[in-house]
Amino acid sequence: MAQRDVILQGPPGAGKGTHAEYLKTHMSYTHLSTGDLLRAAVAKDSDLGKQAQGYMEAGELVPDDLVIDLVAERMEQFDCEEHFLLDGFPRTTAQAETLTAILETLDRERPLVINLVISDAEIVRRLAGRRMCPDCGTICNVHRDGLDIGDKCPQCGGELYRRSDDQPEAIHNRLEVYEQDSAPLIEYYQKRGQLVTVDAEQGQQQVSVELAELAQGRRPC
Ligand code: AP5
Repeated sequence: MAQRDVILQGPPGAGKGTHAEYLKTHMSYTHLSTGDLLRAAVAKDSDLGKQAQGYMEAGELVPDDLVIDLVAERMEQFDCEEHFLLDGFPRTTAQAETLTAILETLDRERPLVINLVISDAEIVRRLAGRRMCPDCGTICNVHRDGLDIGDKCPQCGGELYRRSDDQPEAIHNRLEVYEQDSAPLIEYYQKRGQLVTVDAEQGQQQVSVELAELAQGRRPC
């Protein structure tokens, strides 16, 4: 079966970034994460970064026009042989409709949308324990990896940090924003026959393997 373009959907902390890393490493995917692109813009203090920073720290969505421009610019550069893996986009109905229109213009097949399902309690636990490596981008967790704040990255020895939006108030806000703005996309993609659901509370390796099988068409949707 042929490999498919994939959109990873799911609430904050569901594991989109973690599993995207696995799919990128084990299959030939071009990973496009709007969260990573926006964090890079903030770190560079670019115009986009200056506009996005406040929204991100508060756990709000960055306005559609800014994010759509960012993604559209990159999608137009995709080679038709290349498979993409979208993580964190689309997040609103307006973004989903724009993406559908862009893909039709580019004459690409409809991507598979994988919805990662997870409880709020597990999201809060994971985000409170998440640590990031600024040097190699590894995503760790104190619950799983036995790390303390300030510990070294197990991959490259970099100084781990906590994302500024992983504070309790911002996590709470992100969950509310997800319910209000992003959860309706499940119905949008279900109606278009693109959606498949995966239990994201299973062990990390098990979820990653399941996603890879879906992306390769080796598991029925
Ligand atoms: P973004 O970076 O996309 O954040 P998010 O969607 O809130 O998702 P996260 O990155 O927090 O979680 P994740 O699902 O990737 O989980 P992870 O793999 O890290 O966006 C950040 C902000 O940017 C937004 O709030 C918004 O402001 C802005 N933005 C981005 N895109 C936008 C858009 N399209 N429109 C408007 N604004 C946008 O895993 C979490 C933790 O759990 C890790 O510690 C990991 O190690 C652990 N873990 C993962 N899987 C497992 C498992 N199976 N078992 C145990 N632990 C696990």
